[in-house]
Amino acid sequence: MKELRKVLVSKAQLESRVKELGAAISRDYEGKELVLIGILKGAAVFMADLMREITFPVAIDYMSVSSYGSSSTTSGVITIKQDINTDIRGKHVLLVEDLIDTGLTLQHLGQLFALREAASVSICTILSKPSRRLADIPIDYCGIEIPDEFVVGYGLDYAEQYRNLPEVWIVETEEQQ
Ligand code: PRP
Ligand code: MN
Ligand code: MG
Repeated sequence: MKELRKVLVSKAQLESRVKELGAAISRDYEGKELVLIGILKGAAVFMADLMREITFPVAIDYMSVSSYGSSSTTSGVITIKQDINTDIRGKHVLLVEDLIDTGLTLQHLGQLFALREAASVSICTILSKPSRRLADIPIDYCGIEIPDEFVVGYGLDYAEQYRNLPEVWIVETEEQQ
C-alpha cells in the first residue's frame, strides 16, 4: 500500500474544468462528425465525464496502449493492446487522455490516426506535466497543468490501484519513503 499524501486537484476543480473543456469542444466541433477516442485505462473516468458535457451527438471508442507497464517510469515503448473498431476515415478524431507526461504516447497515436486519414486529429487531456515533456506535441484542450509529482485518482493508477478516487492525489512512492 502507498500512502496518499494530499489532494492536488479537488473534485470541484475537476468538475469545473471538465465543463469548460466540454463547452470549448462543443463550440469548435458543432456541425462536424466527431469521434472521441479514450485511451484506456486512465482516460475512462475523464472520458465518461467529458462526453456528457458535449452538446451534440458524438461517437465514442476506446483504445488500449501500453507505455509504462506497472512501473512508475516511462519505458518509451508503446504497443497497441486493443485497437478501436470504428472507421474514422474522414471523421474528426479527438484523443482523450487522463495525463500527458512525456508526450510519447500521444505523439505515436497522433501519427497513427493521421495515417488512417482522419479529417483531423486533436488532443484533449485533463492533466498535463509540462516539465516531463520529451515530445513537443500540441495539446488542443489542456485541463490542468500539474507539477512533477506521482499522482493517482480520477482514472490514474499506482500499480493498478486508486483509479476510483474522485479527486487527484499525490501519492508517496517507494523511492520517497
Ligand atoms: C499513462 C497515462 C497516459 C500515458 C502518458 O498511462 O494514462 O496514457 O501514461 O504518458 P506519456 O505522455 O509519457 O506517454 P499508463 O501507461 O500508465 O496506462 P494506464 O492508462 O492503463 O494506467
Ligand atoms: Mn493511460
Ligand atoms: Mg498507469
